[in-house]
Amino acid sequence: MKSVALVFTSRKKALTLLRSSVDRFEDDDGSSDLWAECDSEDTIEAVGEALGRYYRVTRVEGDEHAYQRLRKLRPDLVFNIAEGFRGPNRESHIPIICEMLGLAYTGSDALTLSICLNKARTKEILGYHQFPTARFRVIAPGAATAALNSFALPALVKPLHEGSSIGIRNGSLVRTRPELLARVRAVQRRYHQPALVEEFLPGREFSVGVLGNAPAYEVLPPVEINHRALPKGANHVYGFEAKWLWDNPAKPLPILICPARISARLAKRIRDLVCRALEILGVRDWCRVDLRLDASGNPHLLELNPLPGILPAPSDNSALPAAARAAGYSYQELILEVAKHALRRKTRTQSL
Ligand SMILES: Nc1ncnc2c1ncn2[C@@H]1O[C@H](COP(=O)(O)OP(=O)(O)O)[C@@H](O)[C@H]1O
Ligand SMILES: [Mg+2]
Repeated sequence: MKSVALVFTSRKKALTLLRSSVDRFEDDDGSSDLWAECDSEDTIEAVGEALGRYYRVTRVEGDEHAYQRLRKLRPDLVFNIAEGFRGPNRESHIPIICEMLGLAYTGSDALTLSICLNKARTKEILGYHQFPTARFRVIAPGAATAALNSFALPALVKPLHEGSSIGIRNGSLVRTRPELLARVRAVQRRYHQPALVEEFLPGREFSVGVLGNAPAYEVLPPVEINHRALPKGANHVYGFEAKWLWDNPAKPLPILICPARISARLAKRIRDLVCRALEILGVRDWCRVDLRLDASGNPHLLELNPLPGILPAPSDNSALPAAARAAGYSYQELILEVAKHALRRKTRTQSL
């Protein structure tokens, strides 16, 4: 039986660190949204259980002790869901350790993970390849904001390198110049990083799950983000409130439509865009890509999530597990597919 180390970033540990260290995430009201990207006990449990059907599983916190633990364990495979605790390269910490120790691991490598966590860098690369992505500007803390004087409104303001809608709220959509400048300052101050200002794409929104590897990616049925399910008067932004506050297991919002009801033509356009983007960025084993249509109905890439969210309960409305279900994979099968793809890559590399 092969051994697998499941490496995660637990919400429990993240909250302990948050209380005891300098808080890069504190909001005006003292609340924090850092926990949003970390793994809940339910997720760690569900992934461990899925892997446990075929592998001998050891659970490893992806913290500063992970290097020594993995060095001792030397598992056949590291199943990596660790988002990391700190820094703009935090999603790369475990892949770098694995690379250094020569261990096989699931998912994309450190370079791909760090690039995709930086949404502007991702857009620059996609722009080089003539991909459609919303126009944007990056404003570092303390930098001049003159570039924003002519920036078309409405705009969406977000932190440069976050995920799970950390720093993206209903108020991130700004319609006036004073609002724009205030939001840029607020993001810089609260998240201690540059603000990314993007042209607002007002159309339908989709999230597309992918399994496997180039050139034979398996694209799962697209999921539509149903903006109409948001509370009355809310902006059409799938942000922090929409993901974590307005939608909860006690009262789930019908926020995901899966599979999305779209024409075969749009489905093909989206599929082609997604596969090309993944190939260019070197994405491996799994990913979820967010896209949105402009006012003319043309799809644009918003961001890539090479370490996608995988909340296990269907009522959690997690897009990748929902897309997998629509394709006929149970949650356990989804997790095992990812492990299988990674082990296949390992065999291929060894035979080179
Ligand atoms: N340029 C944009 N135009 C329109 N909506 C956007 C834009 N950027 C982000 N959004 C909205 O904000 C949500 C979160 O943005 P995203 O970049 O995907 O960040 P996260 O990493 O938090 O998921 C998207 O799902 C979408 O609803
Ligand atoms: Mg997103």
